[in-house]
Amino acid sequence: MAKGRILSGIQPTGNLHLGNYLGAIRNWVGMQKDYECFFCIVDLHAITADFINPADLTRATREVAAGYIASGIDPAHPALFVQSHVPAHAELAWVLNCVARLGWLNRMTQFKDKAGKNRENASAGLYVYPNLMAADILVYKATHVPVGEDQKQHIELARDIAQKFNHDYGTELFVQPEPVIQGPGTRVMSLRDGAKKMSKSDPSDFSRINMIDSADAIAQKLKKATTDPNALPESVEGLEGRPEAGNLLNIYAALTDRKLPEVVAETAGWGWGQFKTRLTETAVGVLGPINAEMARLMADPAELDRILAKGAEKARGVANPVLAEVYKTVGFLPST
Ligand code: AMP
Ligand code: TRP
Repeated sequence: MAKGRILSGIQPTGNLHLGNYLGAIRNWVGMQKDYECFFCIVDLHAITADFINPADLTRATREVAAGYIASGIDPAHPALFVQSHVPAHAELAWVLNCVARLGWLNRMTQFKDKAGKNRENASAGLYVYPNLMAADILVYKATHVPVGEDQKQHIELARDIAQKFNHDYGTELFVQPEPVIQGPGTRVMSLRDGAKKMSKSDPSDFSRINMIDSADAIAQKLKKATTDPNALPESVEGLEGRPEAGNLLNIYAALTDRKLPEVVAETAGWGWGQFKTRLTETAVGVLGPINAEMARLMADPAELDRILAKGAEKARGVANPVLAEVYKTVGFLPST
């Protein structure tokens, strides 16, 4: 008996990176045995920010699918699919646009970060992005949403939307989803600046390790990663005020599946050269087999497309009846 139902997704913008792997995908792999899992590639979300070249979007969509499978996501469990292949997400999002309040959306920190100083020029899609994300989750009645730390506020909004809909219509239709944010990899920072999140949109490729990076690229990026003049600390408290050291040690802990104090004890007093060599070997050991498998999968796009088509069919089988229930609850006249 499954402990609940999971939904999560990643945007096909740019390359998948170590933050996506440690903060999200790796945790999903571990949850598959206990939960019924729906994993999507959120292409509708991907067009909310900067203009993306259409061919790049298509390629990135297949790449995220390959990244999921290569990391150990079982495509038949019960569904790995592309968001735009299941129209119920966008249809429910419209209804939720009418439930969410402007005041709620105005509090979203991701919108503020992404819109930057020129808010007037941000797309309307970027503003209502969290409503679409709520629809992704609620249309499956997902009970758990495993994500990195940055998505917590969006899941809280999804809970508020579910509650208001249920309250307004006097129903128990929507399930309140719980965020699942676990492990030392929930907030992987940039390799150049320990105060910034590792992200697909950072203009510097040296700020992140991509899941498709070769062993040489990983070695080069870690060699150049920003550090400080001190040796590695003797205790976790010694990381105070040393964000870059904290980030690299957290990455090492996450990659080796250990707690921070354990890796701090192992590396106490090491110089950066010695630590970076160890971290490179570890990162290559974890990512090497995944990126070889991604390359193999990407070489056969027709097979990937078949897997995704099958996933979408299964996802529609779950999402469409929930959307129908919502339409009925709202009072939309049945079409037949
Ligand atoms: P995105 O790349 O924004 O589509 O994010 C997809 C998933 O990866 C979400 O669950 C994020 O929380 C997670 N994620 C993205 N960047 C990081 C990061 N730097 N550290 C940890 N998790 C991350
Ligand atoms: N907003 C998420 C991000 O940028 C991606 C996302 C879209 C998502 N829909 C989702 C994550 C539903 C979890 C559940 O990382």
